[in-house]
Amino acid sequence: MDKSKIPAGQADALGALLDDHRAVKTLFKTFKDTEDRDGKESIAREVCQQLTVHATIEEEIFYPALRGVSDSIDDMLDEAKVEHQVAKDLIAAIEEDPGGDMLEANFTVLSEYVSHHVAEEEGELFNNVIKEKIDLRDVAPLMAARKEELTQEPS
Ligand SMILES: [Fe+2]
Ligand SMILES: [Fe+2]
Repeated sequence: MDKSKIPAGQADALGALLDDHRAVKTLFKTFKDTEDRDGKESIAREVCQQLTVHATIEEEIFYPALRGVSDSIDDMLDEAKVEHQVAKDLIAAIEEDPGGDMLEANFTVLSEYVSHHVAEEEGELFNNVIKEKIDLRDVAPLMAARKEELTQEPS
């Protein structure tokens, strides 16, 4: 999705989420390219933290702002809820034992799963948000403030 082509009403909110998506995608690749165990572990921890913040913002602020606009958006939001839950289970497994033998397997499945979810969000949900001209100009600052809050919290 090309950020520069998003209309003003949706640009800030969708742009921020797209930035988050890009950031974790880069970390997924870095994990693959990293050979050493400690390196992988710290990337995994960082990804889990970023995904948790991102999912919280979507669930608390972004998704509720879209609820009820159309049946197809509601269906996508239901699906997103299930996908977030699966990602959370994998994140919990990784955070429980980041030094364990299952890190590589859990992280690989998480990255595949999140990549699928991100592709659906960008390809379907975000396009519908633009198509329906949902005005997110007041929502974007709330998302930014919540991110700030969640990022500052000690983990
Ligand atoms: Fe999501
Ligand atoms: Fe997302």
